[in-house]
Amino acid sequence: MNILGLLVFLVALANATPLLDQTRVSAASNPSDELNPYPTKPRLTFNPSGTFKMTIFSDLHYGENPWDAWGPQQDVNSAKLMRRVLVDELPDYVVLNGDLITGENTFLENSTSLIDEIVAPLNEARVPFSSTHGNHDNQKNITHLEEIRREQQVSPLSYTRAAPPGVGGEGGEGNYWVPIYERESDQAPALILWFFDSRGGWSPGATSAPLPDWVDASVARWIQSESALMDAAWGSESANKRGALAFVHIPPHAIEKVQGTLNETRNPGLNADQLGQGSTQATDDPSSAGNDQPFWDALNTYVKNLHAVISGHDHGNEWCAREPSKDVVFCFDKHAGYGGYSSAGWGHGVRNIVFPSADPTSGLATWIRFEDGRTRARVTLDSSYGR
Ligand SMILES: *[C@@H]1O[C@H](CO)[C@@H](O)[C@H](O)[C@H]1NC(C)=O
Ligand SMILES: *[C@@H]1O[C@H](CO)[C@@H](O)[C@H](O)[C@H]1NC(C)=O
Ligand SMILES: *[C@@H]1O[C@H](CO)[C@@H](O)[C@H](O)[C@H]1NC(C)=O
Repeated sequence: MNILGLLVFLVALANATPLLDQTRVSAASNPSDELNPYPTKPRLTFNPSGTFKMTIFSDLHYGENPWDAWGPQQDVNSAKLMRRVLVDELPDYVVLNGDLITGENTFLENSTSLIDEIVAPLNEARVPFSSTHGNHDNQKNITHLEEIRREQQVSPLSYTRAAPPGVGGEGGEGNYWVPIYERESDQAPALILWFFDSRGGWSPGATSAPLPDWVDASVARWIQSESALMDAAWGSESANKRGALAFVHIPPHAIEKVQGTLNETRNPGLNADQLGQGSTQATDDPSSAGNDQPFWDALNTYVKNLHAVISGHDHGNEWCAREPSKDVVFCFDKHAGYGGYSSAGWGHGVRNIVFPSADPTSGLATWIRFEDGRTRARVTLDSSYGR
């Protein structure tokens, strides 16, 4: 490492110090271990056959109407969907992409017990997973951080983390990344899964103003410093060999414009939610428009080989499309939960994603799977997709 490289490394290390627990740093046996945020958990790898499959459950909305029979029945239905999909799909990794709980309806004394119900099918399937959180997960009786802490307590294979203090803003602690290695013995990961917290909802003490509904600008600086740490620990040439995939509950603001360019051949899938106020980041309040730009700029500048950005939030949308200002692919999830708003014919299901190899230039296969096994909207996300 030359002097400049050393300097970049030291600056990055200083920025990231809260992430690194002292005992772990001194116990690190090789340089790459320094940056392993999961020293006590299994290293996640591609399959021996070279593939990696992900299943995304979005907008589960547990805990609606606990005072009547309808509400709890929706959670029974959602758990049944999760168990069926997990048995059929056998994913290597699962993402819960926000709005796990309808926090408006939950009680202070037992809000997080819904997390135990949500993760039960994942614990049974022994599948590694992690979560983002949504606007319904920050309410009077629940916060993103409480959900994260509970998930960490009750699910041994949860890879969800909170960002270091000062990153993410109030109610926006869920920013982290998860390394996926091609082989267990590799020095550097082949794929980084990034998870971002788009906040929204209400802080428990608030009466007048909701929380900002965009990824905080502090996350933009953190993306830059974490990327520098990765390059320093794994070698700058490792950056070109590393793929990335990003998850954030509320779609970035730039996605709103994309909806006007959809074409049913190129962008198949349900398109029933008109994007507008409250449906993408920084739109709840007109004065906030564009406040997610530092995040969107940093993600698309410092994260190399970004295959796609995946969001939920708008239950009536399933499509993928290329966002032209950043030349990056965006995909909606599929509404999985029986809670939360829906409409006749929308149905419930998941988005599946398969990496055919650890090569960051290979195209991903992705499609929507309904609970009953039907599939649709299959596309290959490669460099020519959506042009
Ligand atoms: C929050 O929890 C308290 C205590 O269980 C309950 O009385 C209240 O209805 C809940 N919801 C809200 C929005 O305050
Ligand atoms: C939480 O407590 C409330 C009121 O005591 C109850 O109605 C509800 O079913 C409980 N919810 C869970 C998830 O245990
Ligand atoms: C829609 O996309 C397909 C595939 O990219 C393309 O062949 C077709 O010309 C497009 N249709 C319109 C109306 O733009």
